[in-house]
Amino acid sequence: MATLTSEHINQIKRRRTFAIISHPDAGKTTLTEKLLYHGGAIHEAGEVKGKAGTKAATSDWMELEKQKGISITSSVMSFDYKDLKINLLDTPGHKDFSEDTYRVLMAVESACMLIDVAKGVEERTKKLYEVCRYRQIPIFTFINKLDREGKSPLDLIDEVEKTLNMSCYPLTWPIGIGSRFRGIYNRLNQTIILYDQRREGDEVTEIKIENPHDPSWKHLVPEEIYLQTLEELELIEGVLPPFDPDLFLQGKISPLTWGSAKQNFGVDIFLDFFSKFAPAPQPRKTHSGQLVQPTDNTFTGFVFKIQANMDPRHRDRVAFLRICSGRFERGMKVRHSRIEKELRLSYSNQFLAQDRETLDEAFAGDIIGVTDTGNFSIGDSISDDKVIRFEDIPRFAPELFARLSVRDALKRKKMQEALFHLSEEGAIQLFIDPQIGKQDPIIGAVGELQFEVLLHRLNNEYGLEVTLHRLGFTVARWPRNQESGHLVEQLNGQFRLYRDSSDHPVILLNEIWDLNWAQKENPNVEFLTSLTHVR
Ligand code: G4P
Repeated sequence: MATLTSEHINQIKRRRTFAIISHPDAGKTTLTEKLLYHGGAIHEAGEVKGKAGTKAATSDWMELEKQKGISITSSVMSFDYKDLKINLLDTPGHKDFSEDTYRVLMAVESACMLIDVAKGVEERTKKLYEVCRYRQIPIFTFINKLDREGKSPLDLIDEVEKTLNMSCYPLTWPIGIGSRFRGIYNRLNQTIILYDQRREGDEVTEIKIENPHDPSWKHLVPEEIYLQTLEELELIEGVLPPFDPDLFLQGKISPLTWGSAKQNFGVDIFLDFFSKFAPAPQPRKTHSGQLVQPTDNTFTGFVFKIQANMDPRHRDRVAFLRICSGRFERGMKVRHSRIEKELRLSYSNQFLAQDRETLDEAFAGDIIGVTDTGNFSIGDSISDDKVIRFEDIPRFAPELFARLSVRDALKRKKMQEALFHLSEEGAIQLFIDPQIGKQDPIIGAVGELQFEVLLHRLNNEYGLEVTLHRLGFTVARWPRNQESGHLVEQLNGQFRLYRDSSDHPVILLNEIWDLNWAQKENPNVEFLTSLTHVR
């Protein structure tokens, strides 16, 4: 354990780690690209989506993502902006990968909720918002696609507040929407920023005004739009107190801003707000309730994601580690708390879209990808000093179940190994019928697409041709004794118990009706819908 210097502490304090949450199609990829552009990490549009010619660097199942037009994997992108180093974690937008998203949100300090001005709060936004709320993460709101026709700003804010039961605080206000879109007003520094679709590069016209009634911008937009904006601003200025960043940090208000990611308008303003208000790395709770401060000398971190075969040129497995405290140095020795083993972190990377770069040093707040030879599972903690265990990452009850058969019977063992690896990545869950054993596990998934990805990966990465046989189960629950808090090994009413991959007892049922029956027969048992990884 090395003592942090003041330079190291400054490095920690300048980290900002966040994720964008949104419904598919709201513009997350476009916004990410523009953020990276403003951070100087990319130099042309289209680099994030992958240019022609970079195909070789893309894994086969990333190809599947492209075919499906969805983002399944989540990557980590880092860029500098002003004095800050910003880490942006991508979250899969598709609902079938909600567990993956949950884990990503465990690794960030704040989130940006992206909303399409025409569509408002969509189903997926709502779900992701609830996860953020549960984790008490401060949330920025970015209303996107102002260059398209959409809802009126007041109606939209009302919808967001009512649907999500939260308070928005507009930091900017739009001047017209769609074909009438002329710019935004920055309420914090009283500046009008005019939008001109014909503008070249990053040039924007900014006009500093005393207050919205200042006549100096009146002649710059059509009168009707000017008057409408004034009317709206009068309404909100009259009721809103000054912006209080502490209320944002406490999760009580969401600072809201407007723009068009596609037209690269309002993105730099969002980044300015983000850099002013987003929280630096925060203390993290251990399993025993202690707080680990980011500036502690001890290096600590936890694995929130594992991904195999990210790049066919490497054919490896990467454990994504969120550093919670201290400084990482390439080649350092760490203690792996669960398996009580000492490991050397020799190969570590940081990622930019599909590229990776070797990393010699990283700090609390950063995400590093560590090459893993099979030591890591999701939720594992490491430290360069004493044994540490951060709060558990929950696993959720799947709703779809199947068994697999492999065409070539000689490859059964290979399939078992592949399934084991994929379950460690959190791609699927495995359940064992004690009467059958590990050679024929039951596969559990949260959504259909997870099965599809599973088959694709078994074929592409492991050369296995398999057939999926769906089972009738729709419910999985972990039974726990209400009094002792321990998982129970036997249930009344002849309910059979299976084992999950950590050997915990779990009940699999066809219908929710069966669960009611199980509950009736076992009144002292709670049937848990999620279980934290017990080590
Ligand atoms: P996602 O990652 O959230 O799924 O969304 P993505 O960025 O891929 O954007 C979805 C579609 O919305 C894209 O159109 C994108 O160009 C468009 N879009 C994103 N931001 C804006 C915006 O501010 N204004 C307008 N008008 N459109 C926006 P597409 O037709 O699917 O792709 P493309 O041909 O435009 O690339």
